[in-house]
Amino acid sequence: MEKYPLGYDVLAREYYDPFHKTCRNFDLTTIKAIENNPVSIPDHGLVLEVGCGRGRCIEFLGIEPTRVVQLDYSTKMLSIEDREPSLLRMHADATSVPIFKEQFSTVIGFLVDPFIGLNFLSEAFRLLTPGGFLFFTTPTEEWGKPLRDTLEMEASFSRFLTKDGDTVMVASTLISDDRLNGMLQHSGFRNIKITSHCLPEEADPVSPDIQRVADEKGISVNDLPIIHLIAAEKP
Ligand SMILES: C[S@@+](CC[C@H](N)C(=O)[O-])C[C@H]1O[C@@H](n2cnc3c(N)ncnc32)[C@H](O)[C@@H]1O
Repeated sequence: MEKYPLGYDVLAREYYDPFHKTCRNFDLTTIKAIENNPVSIPDHGLVLEVGCGRGRCIEFLGIEPTRVVQLDYSTKMLSIEDREPSLLRMHADATSVPIFKEQFSTVIGFLVDPFIGLNFLSEAFRLLTPGGFLFFTTPTEEWGKPLRDTLEMEASFSRFLTKDGDTVMVASTLISDDRLNGMLQHSGFRNIKITSHCLPEEADPVSPDIQRVADEKGISVNDLPIIHLIAAEKP
């Protein structure tokens, strides 16, 4: 089967450019959300960062790089030169990681919508030590679904317009907080905490794809939840 993450091979050279306003708005929203809802990352053990891209564990959470194993399915995303340092980089699918169980105190992922689902959650559970901590972010359904409906796109894809004017489609599953909660419980996680976050007022520029949904709903762009923060523990 063709793997859609190959779209990220195409995007890697410009994914972190300010041109991609929605991603940059997600970054700012994540930083502010974590500032306002501090996350208690275990202070020991290895951290697996899934769908790492250039790596965000230092920038967003201040984690010591010698603890971090970066994992991504796209070799191009894993090869971005301007990246966070790490202990190790791993080219693998986050839903099927070829290493033994219970090796990480923490599994972290920022914007895991390309591979979110029961396979990813059960794999994260398998890789965590007992008492281990899962923390990830994902775009909200209340933002993405109306956008994809308006653009007449398939519900399980996201589209990137590149600097060259091309369109790149990548897999992206959006899940409501209720369903996420059920899926985490089903996968064995406990102490689940899911919060939703809106674009901070200082965001400039605002992504037209976020503005459009806020306008359709008749609300301020700062009142539209665009990012979920999810934390859970393996008993
Ligand atoms: C939206 S980007 C986020 C990148 C990074 N976490 C960040 O926030 O800057 C999603 C990342 O997930 C990676 N990815 C997609 N499918 C994957 C899979 N099945 N397993 C691991 N990584 C995957 C992509 O290559 C890409 O780097």
